[in-house]
Amino acid sequence: MSNRTFTMIKPDAMEKGYAGAIIDRILKEGFRLVAMKLTHLAPEKAGEFYAIHKEKPFYGELIAYMSRGPIIAAILEKDNAVNAFRELIGATNPVNAAEGTIRKLFAVSIEENAVHGSDSDENAKIEGDFFFSGLERV
Ligand code: RTP
Ligand code: MG
Repeated sequence: MSNRTFTMIKPDAMEKGYAGAIIDRILKEGFRLVAMKLTHLAPEKAGEFYAIHKEKPFYGELIAYMSRGPIIAAILEKDNAVNAFRELIGATNPVNAAEGTIRKLFAVSIEENAVHGSDSDENAKIEGDFFFSGLERV
């Protein structure tokens, strides 16, 4: 069990100005920031990130959504990080997300659901490496 996970604040939440509230919530839950950046996914990069879904009917919309505006990408640290973070964000569809979860509070729909959270230790490492190559110093 690893102590790291990877997250993105997705374009819908960025557009609505929820980034600060979401980061505040994450930190108050005891996650530590290991790396964080504001960036904008090109469609081909969004497609690569979500390649696991390329046969799904929603893949095209997912790529358009994830590349339509800036996102914040971050690596987070906490005991049992992957599971603890999935619990904090709630179900993919905000209608099914538990009260108080980030998706219940900030997501609008199953398509536009405010945040990403890695689903396994293995994917947390792959996804973190997709955006970060170690602790950068100026
Ligand atoms: P994520 O990977 O972004 O953390 O979301 P997740 O594990 O909860 O859900 P996943 O099944 O991996 O789906 C990835 C993202 O695709 C969009 N989606 N749309 N229209 C649909 O039925 C549908 N299903 C999923 C969402 O943006 C979802 O988070
Ligand atoms: Mg997923």
